[in-house]
Amino acid sequence: ATGLNAKAKSAGKLYFGSATDNSELTDTAYVAILDNNSEFGQLTPANSMKWDATEPSQGTFTFSGGDQIANLAKSNGQLLRGHNCVWYNQLPSWVTSTSWTSSELLSVVQTHCSTIVSHYKDAWDVINEPFNDDGTFRTDVFYTVTGTQYITTALQAARAADPNAKLYINDYNIESTGAKATAMLNLVKQLKSAGVPVDGVGLQCHFIVGEVPTSLQSVMQQFTALGVEVAITELDIRMTLPETQALLTQQQKDYQSVVAACMAVEGCVGITVWDYTDKYSWVPSTFSGQGDACPWDSNLQKKPAYTGIMTAL
Ligand code: XIL
Repeated sequence: ATGLNAKAKSAGKLYFGSATDNSELTDTAYVAILDNNSEFGQLTPANSMKWDATEPSQGTFTFSGGDQIANLAKSNGQLLRGHNCVWYNQLPSWVTSTSWTSSELLSVVQTHCSTIVSHYKDAWDVINEPFNDDGTFRTDVFYTVTGTQYITTALQAARAADPNAKLYINDYNIESTGAKATAMLNLVKQLKSAGVPVDGVGLQCHFIVGEVPTSLQSVMQQFTALGVEVAITELDIRMTLPETQALLTQQQKDYQSVVAACMAVEGCVGITVWDYTDKYSWVPSTFSGQGDACPWDSNLQKKPAYTGIMTAL
């Protein structure tokens, strides 16, 4: 097997994939690597399936950006991960600035989820980032107005829209044991015992060089023990700049240990990097002074991290 996806698949995983964004698709050198099914067997749109992009005003759906990435995945024989149905961020103002009753907002959630999930296949982050770091529910508009009912409504709408799509709840800081992982475990348990459809938990895995959690594998096993699959959905491992040889070497080890954790868990179905190159990483604009988080550098050259991934697969 020559590339990341080819090796992941021959080792029994479904895919190795990457996030991408529409604005990057005019970069032909970038796209040539993204299109290579031996490296990437799955794509996630970093922005173009979010609520502000897909339903900018109530009942008006725009699929052009999402379709561009869905069509690319299809022509490359790659799986598609929809991202995402319900999230507190990147919401159009009509969602956040209306005083909804609970039943009104649930109907809005139902329409949004069923429309976008019926339009795109494979897997969906139906719920994104529902928890605060202390394990309490994030008090966004959805939770404030409906309690946890929005989670049930979104998952049920997604299941009805596409019975074959894998439906996920996705979050960060659930990759090590602690209050937030426990809260996610409890939510999955409750949903399953109530008969609410949930197929998987996405562990985002936005990590820092030298700080990969040692309990990653055991947390993933705790989730799969509940009867759901897990996926590493947004992997990147950032460093404080400037980059040094020592940091690149540690980053290689860190990528290797994250991928090894997924390999050791049967129900960990695949790994997605949150874009494959430092050229387009979200990290520098979000975490001041940090970057170089991806397995390819900003000149589209493979870094030691690439070898770390390959070694673990
Ligand atoms: C990020 C995108 O990569 C950026 O381009 C955008 O400006 C902000 O959102 N967790 C998620 C993703 O679930 O949707 C976020 O994506 C990164 C953190």
